[in-house]
Amino acid sequence: MLLQIKNLKINYKSDNRMVEVVRGVDLDIDRGECVGLIGESGCGKTTAGLSITKLIPERKGNISSGEILFASNDILKLNPEELRNIRGKKISYVFQEPFSSLNPVFTIYEQIRESLEEKDNPGRRIAEILKSVGLEKIIGRKNAYPHELSGGMQQRAMIGMAIASRPDLLVLDEPTTALDVTVQRQILDLIMELKNKMNLAILFISHDLRIVFNIADKIAIMYAGKIIEFGPKEKIVSSPAHPYTIGLIDSIPSLEHRKKPFNAISGKAPLFSELPQGCKFYPRCRFRIDKCTEKEPELRDVSGGQASRCIRIEELKSNGTIKNR
Ligand SMILES: Nc1ncnc2c1ncn2[C@@H]1O[C@H](COP(=O)(O)OP(=O)(O)OP(=O)(O)O)[C@@H](O)[C@H]1O
Ligand code: SF4
Ligand SMILES: [Mg+2]
Repeated sequence: MLLQIKNLKINYKSDNRMVEVVRGVDLDIDRGECVGLIGESGCGKTTAGLSITKLIPERKGNISSGEILFASNDILKLNPEELRNIRGKKISYVFQEPFSSLNPVFTIYEQIRESLEEKDNPGRRIAEILKSVGLEKIIGRKNAYPHELSGGMQQRAMIGMAIASRPDLLVLDEPTTALDVTVQRQILDLIMELKNKMNLAILFISHDLRIVFNIADKIAIMYAGKIIEFGPKEKIVSSPAHPYTIGLIDSIPSLEHRKKPFNAISGKAPLFSELPQGCKFYPRCRFRIDKCTEKEPELRDVSGGQASRCIRIEELKSNGTIKNR
């Protein structure tokens, strides 16, 4: 396994006290595999992704426990120099806003050169990278600045910088959210192509289930700082095993039923400072019973590689209340 996150807990400072926002996350990603991490705004996706190379700002938060094994080394135990050899090199990031991630005062060439592992003959390698991210137009244009590119091209340049060091793992945090739909599709195709060509492992963070269904091999659904369901994409699509996942799938507006209002999940995600007892989804769950408040459900295997934190899922499926799709 390339990346193994075990029982990861992260706190942030809020109103002068520490609040746990990642509350014990376990997640594995293998080489060549894309894991989609999905959940509503504020559930802890970005925080979990940043922590993989200890990018949580020290003044604001801390990783209080857990292990992050990358090629069997615990990243949380590395010294600053060892960490520098991994961050941005073996593990690279691409974020939502390409323009704010690119430095406006340096050319695209200069910025890709900065990310290169080998510094010999950079022109050739930069041309190779530009080609592989579909920016043939820029090859040879050594004085092209970020503002001369469209949003989609800027994101291609960011992806170019991220793969320049030939990483093993890419963390993509909402990489297409700022782009329009056609460009989104092109960027997703590019990511898939690079994944296959480079045998990249990808953590693809998104709040958009449709995108994750398109791109991921496995899906982790996060709610209030924990993974509440995990499994192969096909399983999650055909046989979701947590009421929250079912709510997310039902709230995807379908093209055939444009006029039908989509069924958003009622209520709001709880504040981390006021989490309910027991199952954290209880206040919003259509299937809740008193027993759900007794203790927070464990993530249990429910069938071939699919795990859920709902204590009622087997019962609800076997009595037909929850049907497969
Ligand atoms: N720098 C910070 N200082 C204090 N609290 C923070 C900080 N960054 C995030 N948080 C809090 O941590 C929680 C998780 O935030 P995070 O950004 O990881 O969520 P997310 O799932 O990525 O959301 P989104 O979909 O909006 O990007 C939120 O409650 C947020 O308010
Ligand atoms: S444990 Fe209970 S409240 Fe939580 S998701 Fe399952 S049925 Fe709903
Ligand atoms: Mg985020």
